[in-house]
Amino acid sequence: MKAFSVIAALAALAAKVSAHYTFPQLIAGSSATTAWQYVRETNNWQDLNPQTDVTTNDIMCYDSAMSGTASTMSVAAGSTVGFTVDGNPSNLYHPGVLNVYMAQAPSGTDVASWDGSGDVWFKVYQISAVTDGGSTITFPATGLTQVTFPIPAETPSGQYLIRVEHIALHVASSYGGAQFYIACGQVEVTGGGSGTPGPLVAFPGAYTGNEPGILINIYYPIPANYTQPGPAVWPAA
Ligand SMILES: *[C@@H]1O[C@H](CO)[C@@H](O)[C@H](O)[C@H]1NC(C)=O
Repeated sequence: MKAFSVIAALAALAAKVSAHYTFPQLIAGSSATTAWQYVRETNNWQDLNPQTDVTTNDIMCYDSAMSGTASTMSVAAGSTVGFTVDGNPSNLYHPGVLNVYMAQAPSGTDVASWDGSGDVWFKVYQISAVTDGGSTITFPATGLTQVTFPIPAETPSGQYLIRVEHIALHVASSYGGAQFYIACGQVEVTGGGSGTPGPLVAFPGAYTGNEPGILINIYYPIPANYTQPGPAVWPAA
């Protein structure tokens, strides 16, 4: 009994310390879909561990193990989609910032078999940090149990990967310390517009790991300002 409670306490502590998470379900409208149905199953679907190497191909969709087969969901341009957070606990537990990128599969290529390589990724949504010149820094994404955002109405019709990324910054003061929680959904955008998405970046390539918003001590001294990693959100507000 005693040994059991020690083990239980240690397990609870380990869970608390690791506090890792994934984004297994795509949300369409107000309902979440089945886990890993429209989201490519990530290598960390069981251990929930973050990606910390921005130079690996796994900084894109973290799915090199290819342990699942995702379907492609039809979504209307201008509609709201999203991802649920699942883990230990099931929210964006760590202080950090969030980005959502999309990339269109070349015409004639099924997004389900597309690797997403090249300068093809544009940012459609972000939740940055809030600073006030050095007194406080807050992270509005913290604690979210799901992330929702609109597919820009200007997005051309076609098949896309949608990549969500939470960059946890609690141990980011040394190189490679930032923790990337990533997943890619597969969607077919219908009723799209005639916009030209950009700027376009590649994964890997978008980050060096030395960006002021990635290699950062968020505790001391309190950063006076914060620079969100990655390109500007498209389309400009
Ligand atoms: C704050 O702004 C300065 C001046 O532009 C810049 O050098 C620094 O990298 C910024 N800090 C962060 C954390 O973005």
